[in-house]
Amino acid sequence: MKTSVLSAAFLASIATAAPALVKRQSTDIDGVILNYALTLEHLEAAFYAQGIAKFSEQDFAAAGFNGSQFYRNLKEVGRDEQVHVDFLTTALKGAGVTPVDACTYDFGNLTPATFIATAQILEGVGVSAYLGAAALITNKAYLTAAGSILTVEARHSSFVRNSLTLEPSPQPFDIPLDFNQVYSLAAPFIKACPATNPALPVKAFPTLTAGANTPSPLVQGTTIEFDLAAGMAVPAGPLYVAFPLADGAMFSSAVVKDCKVYARIPVGHTGPNGEVYAILTTSNTTITDDTTVAGPAVLEVAPFMAA
Ligand SMILES: *[C@@H]1O[C@H](CO)[C@@H](O)[C@H](O)[C@H]1NC(C)=O
Ligand SMILES: *[C@@H]1O[C@H](CO)[C@@H](O)[C@H](O)[C@H]1NC(C)=O
Repeated sequence: MKTSVLSAAFLASIATAAPALVKRQSTDIDGVILNYALTLEHLEAAFYAQGIAKFSEQDFAAAGFNGSQFYRNLKEVGRDEQVHVDFLTTALKGAGVTPVDACTYDFGNLTPATFIATAQILEGVGVSAYLGAAALITNKAYLTAAGSILTVEARHSSFVRNSLTLEPSPQPFDIPLDFNQVYSLAAPFIKACPATNPALPVKAFPTLTAGANTPSPLVQGTTIEFDLAAGMAVPAGPLYVAFPLADGAMFSSAVVKDCKVYARIPVGHTGPNGEVYAILTTSNTTITDDTTVAGPAVLEVAPFMAA
């Protein structure tokens, strides 16, 4: 892949900033953040490469993805992810940090429809990942580079949502997620990584998944069922399902029974809407790694309708 003029400019600014990064490396988390971003970009690039290799334009059209330029645009999305991989790899090397290599992945036995549904989740999670990491980046050149990728991931998300006849931008703010929340959503797709990859300070929480019969989109105010991993022990005491939002979070009481979790989707104009996350917590006021029991789960919630 060729670097564009814009990314060449980023590379130049990153090269200038690199000595400072190398010097401060032991205390600087920028290299870690870029490797975390690269971990996600590898996953996305592999996902699109597999889907585009497996399904033709006619396969997608037969599944209802027959919009003008749909396949061309899909291939462009896949190319963007590979350019992001190449860009972050070069930037990390330039800063003297070992870049992570691609892992092996398992996206399940995809059809054109489940491929696009998975793309919707991955693009939304990508936006939340860059947004959550932004506040931690110390080098302004990296922040601009990450912001430049974030806006493109957001446009990918709109394209995929539009292809699914979902609102392209269903909410005025996107939701930031932290490293462990994002990694929890990526981990189920990651089968094995090269032993030479630098270890990242991320861990996956136990999975929380929307039950098999969950409608999409969901309607605010309805109670839904989630699955926990079989045999998973939950802490004693009251539990909640937290819905992180751009300006805080909303909480519902959770009923947990036989590895099933039941909770109501909160109601409100500024409540869950579009691609949102649900996290099983021990607190009804804060979502931290310490209060997280399982999740996030990814849900699609229909726009708020005043009664
Ligand atoms: C796309 O598919 C839909 C549903 O099968 C059909 O109604 C529509 O005419 C198709 N559009 C094109 C451009 O082929
Ligand atoms: C929130 O949790 C506290 C206990 O930590 C409990 O007293 C309170 O009733 C809960 N509020 C709601 C709305 O569930």
